[in-house]
Amino acid sequence: MVDYRIRPVIDEDKEWITNFLTERWGSPIIITRGKIHHGNQLSGFVAEDKNEKIGLITYDIENEKCEITSLDSLIENIGVGSNLIEKLKTKASSSGCEKLWLVTTNDNRKAIRFNQKRGFNLVAVYPDAVEKSRKLKPEIPLIGYDGIKIKDEIVLEMKI
Ligand SMILES: CC(C)(COP(=O)(O)OP(=O)(O)OC[C@H]1O[C@@H](n2cnc3c(N)ncnc32)[C@H](O)[C@@H]1OP(=O)(O)O)[C@@H](O)C(=O)NCCC(=O)NCCS
Repeated sequence: MVDYRIRPVIDEDKEWITNFLTERWGSPIIITRGKIHHGNQLSGFVAEDKNEKIGLITYDIENEKCEITSLDSLIENIGVGSNLIEKLKTKASSSGCEKLWLVTTNDNRKAIRFNQKRGFNLVAVYPDAVEKSRKLKPEIPLIGYDGIKIKDEIVLEMKI
């Protein structure tokens, strides 16, 4: 059994977050709906066991809406991703947010499935939006999961 805890991101995590997001997403910059987020400047929660960090969720609160700007789990299928979302839901709610939302891409079947099972609804598809994001972040690959071209942004949200 993996024994881990979830705690808020602290300043000392910034270098790790930069490296982690670069490894997972090509750079610490995250583009969603045309907005540039600097992942290492965002708030978030880290999942860590006694030896190492095993998950990260980052977020951005604006206009009483909390956006999940990144979510990554290094040890899958033991609850890390779900628990990070639950932790953020509590934080967002206590910060006065009414919605939790996120953007994923058309190739990320797993994220679309996972988030719907956690209570998110599909609310919008922006065809070819990733082309614009790629101008701001050329590291976004052309081909994603299952050999699918990464083209469209998909927005999921839930009321909290
Ligand atoms: C999507 C992602 C964050 C999920 O993280 P995770 O840590 O595997 O998530 P969980 O362990 O909470 O849930 C995954 C599955 O394991 C199951 N699970 C959770 N705890 C479990 C346990 N103790 N035993 C068995 N199964 C378990 C969950 O029920 C879930 O299955 P379901 O979706 O059919 O209900 C992870 O796959 C990931 O990092 N993906 C790549 C990055 C990415 O695409 N991020 C974007 C997400 S928006």
